[in-house]
Amino acid sequence: MNEHQRVGIGTSLSRIDGVAKVTGTAKYAAEYRVPDMLWGVTVVSAIARGRIVSMDEDAARTVPGVVDIISHLNRPKHAPLNRSWKDELQYPGEPFKAFHDDRIQFAAQPIAVVVAETFEAARFAATLVHVRYEAEPHNIDFEASLAEKFLPGPGDRRNIYHQPKNHGDAESAYAEAPFRLAGDYHLAVEHHMPMEMQASTVHWHGDGTVTIYDKVQGSKTSQEFVASAFGLGAKNVRVVNAFVGGAFGGALRPLWQLHVAVMAAIHLKRSVRVVMTRSQMFSHCHRPECTYQIRLGAGADGKLTAVLGDATTSTSRFEHEMEDIVTWGMINYACPNIQGSYNIAPRDTFTPGDMRAPGGATGMTLFEIAIDELAYIAGADPLAFRLLNYSEVDNMNRRPFTSKALREAYSQGAERFNWAKRTPEPRSMKEGHEFIGWGVATGLWESMFMKTSASAQLTANGHLEVASASSDIGTGTYTVMMQVAADTLGLSPDAITVKLGDSSLPPAPVEGGSWGAASTGAAVQLACQTIAKKLLKAADKVEGRPLGSVSSVDELDFVAGEMIVRNNPARRVALIDAMHASGLDVLEATETASPGMGSMTSLDTKSRNTHSAVFVEARVDEELDQVRITHVVIAVAAGRIINPKLARSQILGGVVMGIGMALHEETVPDNALGKWINHSFGEYHVPAHADIEDIDVIFVDEPDPEVTPLGVKGLGEVGIVGVAAAVSNAIYHATGKRVRSLPITVDKLLAAPIQAGALG
Ligand code: MOS
Repeated sequence: MNEHQRVGIGTSLSRIDGVAKVTGTAKYAAEYRVPDMLWGVTVVSAIARGRIVSMDEDAARTVPGVVDIISHLNRPKHAPLNRSWKDELQYPGEPFKAFHDDRIQFAAQPIAVVVAETFEAARFAATLVHVRYEAEPHNIDFEASLAEKFLPGPGDRRNIYHQPKNHGDAESAYAEAPFRLAGDYHLAVEHHMPMEMQASTVHWHGDGTVTIYDKVQGSKTSQEFVASAFGLGAKNVRVVNAFVGGAFGGALRPLWQLHVAVMAAIHLKRSVRVVMTRSQMFSHCHRPECTYQIRLGAGADGKLTAVLGDATTSTSRFEHEMEDIVTWGMINYACPNIQGSYNIAPRDTFTPGDMRAPGGATGMTLFEIAIDELAYIAGADPLAFRLLNYSEVDNMNRRPFTSKALREAYSQGAERFNWAKRTPEPRSMKEGHEFIGWGVATGLWESMFMKTSASAQLTANGHLEVASASSDIGTGTYTVMMQVAADTLGLSPDAITVKLGDSSLPPAPVEGGSWGAASTGAAVQLACQTIAKKLLKAADKVEGRPLGSVSSVDELDFVAGEMIVRNNPARRVALIDAMHASGLDVLEATETASPGMGSMTSLDTKSRNTHSAVFVEARVDEELDQVRITHVVIAVAAGRIINPKLARSQILGGVVMGIGMALHEETVPDNALGKWINHSFGEYHVPAHADIEDIDVIFVDEPDPEVTPLGVKGLGEVGIVGVAAAVSNAIYHATGKRVRSLPITVDKLLAAPIQAGALG
């Protein structure tokens, strides 16, 4: 193919759904008006564990407009077996089934829904439902839960969990190392706080079919879940998630508002909408809490000789959520002796879940704080220390990468940041009443690819429609699909429409894991390539056969609505002329992209990862220890960039969330009540505009034809990984204070001692 002819891929177009979003015509799950719809407001449990003894509904039922109250006492039948409650990213264990019985498994568990003719009536009546409980002892204290930690057996693990692989004798190497670090690192619970709350609008058609507008990262997963759990049959359930107002992993699984809305609709044979309140958004998944003991040893030359990590993350009492925590450092650095162990600890909360770069954002970030500490112990510049221990290959899996341009990321980031101007000693840079610190960290994430289908339909007026059940969770999938189609068939953006977010379209997985652009893009490309082949055939009927003996689309360029013979550009046929000559009103193709297709290497022979280098400037008030993050440079190596503008936007979002992880975000348990105590935006702090200053994003050129068909590696997640470490490392450089527990709130920083070495 002819690189210079491309018009779509690599172009910084604004998102094609942008105008619809800012003008309000883009509809989210709770915005669809369906005829005769009722409003459901969910009553949630006030205790963390126990049983419902009774529910007094009398007062609630007298509220004008209330239609019914549904709970475990009167709910419609749902599937009794756990295996019917599967979703695409199922965890081993017992899936939560709303209103299943009288058991309470976590605080704010949905226990009843008040359905009314108006939202206001439902909301008021919900406050009048009086519930009596029989409480049982609960525990949501992570420290206490560690007494019950365990490693699930192989059959009890998620299929995407990668077990650490040990090499050498790390204990002995650590014991003998001249430079050593041992530290306990910690990350608090964080909750996904997208702008759009979980919502399901169920349109009950009355003929046995339903259309559900759902807040979810994959229409197919909700469709199959509802069909199976409520026995509706897949052909009777259509799920639409045309627009998703942020999710970050929080909507990968069909969540309880969907159970509740569907049960209410079935019970009443009416259309019903259920939306979680912001407070209820704290009752579903969250990033698990983590404790991570890291020991590192280095030789007199500064080269790592031992990496040991032992981590535990929290899970629920009923499901086993596992993440890759200890593997990242073992993969990233050259070290002969590595050892990792990992457990999970159950407590009485809802099951934690994937949150932007699950595992990596926790494990790599905490590891990059430890590496920084060892660099100081070894008397090395933190960046030089990382380069000294650079690994060209995947150090844990002992195999090459399809590509790894991390070295280039370090050097381009350092140059843009002016790292060479850094003075090495902590507390050595100051302006006015603020200490200035410069920190660096590494980001690492996976490049995944998932089986995805797409269709293309070209009509004789030259209009192309591409479609896939895939989602756009704010990442830019609409635009990516359009650009790949434009590129493949040489059409202008305004000749293309994109459909997605609908289970009736060609099947696609949930959008997550940063695999969306690579996988959906490849499916769209395949479908458009099939259209191209059909066009070549159709061109045969054009008078005079201008394309002559050309027999393969590989000999053609598709540019500006024409097929052009590459080595003889005078020979060309307009796409619509080929269709007219063959009497075609429409050309259609549906194709499926699968792992291993094209020039992709086998998943087992090479590792496929994205990398980044993050540089942070922190300014810390010398008396108050208030932290400002005044400059971030992040250099990202993520293969081919389809749209630099949208790619930058993904990385900016990741960096902002990373700053949140470093300084703000923390869900605090009230151990006595068994609930998260700061369940509101008033008390769960995410970065606001005033917290964010300059962020510079660099994309490092990284051609990689082996990783995925388009050479795309994915960008949704790598932007957060390591950011909080770079912040922690910058704060240490500014103040000489090392805080190993994220977020680094002012109280922790004030309490931390200035390290002896840092005083010079
Ligand atoms: Mo992502 S945490 O896979 O949405």
